[in-house]
Amino acid sequence: MQSTRRLNIRPRHDFTSRFVAYNLFDSFGILVNTAMRVTVSDIIDKKNRGEKVTVLTAYDYAFAPIVDAAGVDIILVGDSMANVVLGMQSTQEISLDEMINHSRAVVKGSERAMVIGDMPYCAYQANPDDAVTSARRFVNEAGCQAIKLEWFDRALEVTEQIVGDGIPVMGHVGFTPQTPDEPGSSKVRGKDVEGARRLIQQAKALESAGCFSIVLECVPWQLAKIISEKLAIPTIGIGAGVFCNGQVLVLNDVLGLFRRFTPKFVKKYVDIYQESLCGIERYVQEVKTGVFPTEKQSFSLPQEVLKELEKSL
Ligand code: KIV
Repeated sequence: MQSTRRLNIRPRHDFTSRFVAYNLFDSFGILVNTAMRVTVSDIIDKKNRGEKVTVLTAYDYAFAPIVDAAGVDIILVGDSMANVVLGMQSTQEISLDEMINHSRAVVKGSERAMVIGDMPYCAYQANPDDAVTSARRFVNEAGCQAIKLEWFDRALEVTEQIVGDGIPVMGHVGFTPQTPDEPGSSKVRGKDVEGARRLIQQAKALESAGCFSIVLECVPWQLAKIISEKLAIPTIGIGAGVFCNGQVLVLNDVLGLFRRFTPKFVKKYVDIYQESLCGIERYVQEVKTGVFPTEKQSFSLPQEVLKELEKSL
């Protein structure tokens, strides 16, 4: 696809570093890349050094800087946004435009972490011939460094095409929310020998197709350990135990912001819902009772203007 974007470089003033860093902006003013972002080779090197890869989702300009500042290696703009931000029942419902808009906000709100855009169902599974064009939009329009896609029957072919176009791909096997089997059935995948062998094959095939890492979702920890040992690229677990090379969780679960359901693999680290509720209740109370706003939050007219105005009325 022909791109008409012009790129320009602006220096970034980083007072914490002795090194000059540069941000790359496109003609729309979107941050494309920085010299200091985590790269694909940084992620693979971590596995080689036996260091864990930390991944967390974020969906907007408010939370991206917090996740970035906390030292997360990869910010995933997951299509879990459909459930936890947009209130949809299924991740199948979210559009490519929605994913691109939010990915762009996350890129703008972060400087250091790698940002991965999650390909929504409509962008590749509904019509695999659109896959490369969809993936390119995450890079060109949002400024993402890579994309993620879930396993489906044409996952290998689509991965090869996207990687062939120069875009790094993170795979995703095990439970794949875009194509869950029957609702309510156990989410855990690879529990019998046949299922376990199938998952090992899928992970190995995705590695051969060019993925630089693979999410293992809802996989017994013993099987996740086998897969992690068989692959050269890092495995990123979610409900897949401690032997994966890295971990991912949904931000709104970690912060206690999503209350519709809580999967077994979630650990809540802070209760932002309760904190927010207390703060907002105080606001409502203070507005009702006239405690807020005070003079401090008000603008005032000069005395002479007020006198003049009152005379003229
Ligand atoms: O959409 C998402 O948030 C994900 C992760 C949970 C892996 O796919």
